[in-house]
Amino acid sequence: MLRRLYHDQPESFAFTPANLEWAKAQITKYPEGRQASAVIALLWRAQEQEGWLTRPAIEYVADMLGMAHIRALEVATFYFMFQLQPVGSVAHIQVCGTTSCMICGAEDLIGVCREKIAPEPHQLSADGKFSWEEVECLGACANAPMAQIGKDYYEDLTAERLAEIIDELAAGKVPVPGPQNGRYAAEPLSGPTSLAQHEKPASPHNASVERALALGDTVKRIDGTEAPVLTPWLDARKAGRAAQKKVAKPAAKSASKPASRPAAKAAAKPVAKPAKKPARKPVAPDGRPELLQKPRGGKADDLKQIKGVGPKLEALLHKLGVFHFDQIASWRKKEVEWVDEHLEGFRGRVSRDEWVKQAKVLARGGETEFSKKVKKGGVY
Ligand code: FES
Repeated sequence: MLRRLYHDQPESFAFTPANLEWAKAQITKYPEGRQASAVIALLWRAQEQEGWLTRPAIEYVADMLGMAHIRALEVATFYFMFQLQPVGSVAHIQVCGTTSCMICGAEDLIGVCREKIAPEPHQLSADGKFSWEEVECLGACANAPMAQIGKDYYEDLTAERLAEIIDELAAGKVPVPGPQNGRYAAEPLSGPTSLAQHEKPASPHNASVERALALGDTVKRIDGTEAPVLTPWLDARKAGRAAQKKVAKPAAKSASKPASRPAAKAAAKPVAKPAKKPARKPVAPDGRPELLQKPRGGKADDLKQIKGVGPKLEALLHKLGVFHFDQIASWRKKEVEWVDEHLEGFRGRVSRDEWVKQAKVLARGGETEFSKKVKKGGVY
C-alpha cells in the first residue's frame, strides 16, 4: 500500500513535558552514537500524544535523535502501526485481510466498517469517533478473522460481534479483547485435543486478555495520567560504577605506600608528556569535507573494499575528490550528510552502510569481513 504524508499538516509539534521526560529517558537506553535506535519508541509516543503521526512530529523526533529527517520518515512510512493521517478520536480499527482471515470472513468485517464507520479506509466516521483500514496478517491467524483495535486484538470475530463492539466503544465502554466466541486461546473450537488432562485455568481469560484488562488501556491515549517514568537501567549503571570505584580504591591506597628505592627513583624522573594530537580542522559551514584533486602518491585506495561501494559509487567518489580510506574515516556527522547529499542516485549510502566505521578499520590497515571477501575475489 502506498503510504504518504497527509496533505493537511499542523505547523509544529512538541512533546508535552511529561512525554519529553519519557523520551529522554528512552534515549539513555542506548549507547553513545546509537540514539537513533530509539526512533520507533519515540515515534510511537508522538503518535500516542497526537493520535496520528504528523510530519512535524516525525521531524521533531528525527532532530531529537540527530537523524536526517528522511531516515525517520522511512521508518514512519514503512510500518503500518504508524498512522500518517488523522484517525478516529475513540478508535482506529485495523481489520486483518490476509489469507486465514479472508477465508474466515474478513470481507464481512470490512463490510461492517464500511457501513458503520466510513465507506473508505482512513476516512473518519461522520462523528469523528472512528476510522478503519485493512492491514496485513497480524499474526493471530489461528483466531481468524480478527481485528486490532487500539492496543489489543479482537479475535474469532463475526460481522455481528464487530458491529456490537463498535457500538460499545461508541458508548464509552471497552469490550473485553481476545477471542469473541468463547475460546480461551487458540485451542480447537471443539476443545483441546492434547494436554486435555490439565487443570482448567482459574481465569476465564488467557494471559494476554488478563493483562489487557489489568492495564485497561486498549483505546486509551496518552493523557498525562501515565505512571511516572522509571529508569531501572540507569540505576543499574550507577550501581555498577559505584562498585567499580570500590574495587579501584585499594589500588590507590597501595600507591600511597612508601615506594621502594628504584621505584622512587623512577617516579622522580620527569614523565614525558604525551604528544598532543594536532587540532582537527573545524567542519566547514556547509559540511563539505576535505577533498583532493587527485590521489596522494598517484594511487587511490580500493574503495570497493567498503561494503556498499561498487564500481559506480567508487567512480562518483573519485569525481568528488575522495580517494582514500583515511579521508572517509575522518568524516564527521555534517560531512557525512554533505557527501550523502552529493551521491547522485545513491543518496544516503554513507550513513546507511556505515562507511566511516568501515573506513576507520581499513585506514588502520585492518580488515573487515567484507574487505576480506573482496580481496579473495568473492564479491562481484
Ligand atoms: S491472516 Fe489474519 S491474523 Fe494472520
